[in-house]
Amino acid sequence: MRLLALLAALGLLGGAAAASADPHVDYMLECQGCHLPDGSGKPGAVPSLRDSIGRFLEVPGGRAFLVQVPGSATSPLSDARLATLLNWMIREFGPADVARRMRPYEVKEIAVWRARPLVDVETTRAALVARMSPR
Ligand code: HEC
Repeated sequence: MRLLALLAALGLLGGAAAASADPHVDYMLECQGCHLPDGSGKPGAVPSLRDSIGRFLEVPGGRAFLVQVPGSATSPLSDARLATLLNWMIREFGPADVARRMRPYEVKEIAVWRARPLVDVETTRAALVARMSPR
């Protein structure tokens, strides 16, 4: 029973376990080791998501980037769970105004972008950040 519970928590069971997935739990298990519980990251190593992650949705290519970035694309989560998780992260970390007007990720866009890994993450990220308007 314990093993089953662990597998369910890790998302290794399909069906009911996947359907009942909680994005906050997925974040805790798969992401917060680097991004930290409050999304603040690690200076110089992991960028802060706070008031930042949603801003990628406002520049061309940014919507795909949030899916293609290795932490997202190579996570063990299904496309459906990754869609739910990214939608949760944008609402959780903001900016709040972007989160309010965002069009939530759909499973099919996750599948398309996940299949196209980024060749140079740093350069792609820097180009997107450079296009963000000052706030
Ligand atoms: C091993 C550390 C690590 C883990 C685990 C990790 N990330 Fe990341 N994440 C990073 C780093 C570093 C970046 C900056 C871009 C890059 O170099 O990959 C990043 C960037 C991102 C970004 C783009 C935001 C930005 O400002 O660049 C998103 C979205 C993201 N990660 C989502 C996730 C999700 C979702 C998970 C869990 C399923 C996750 N990450 C797990 C290290 C990690």
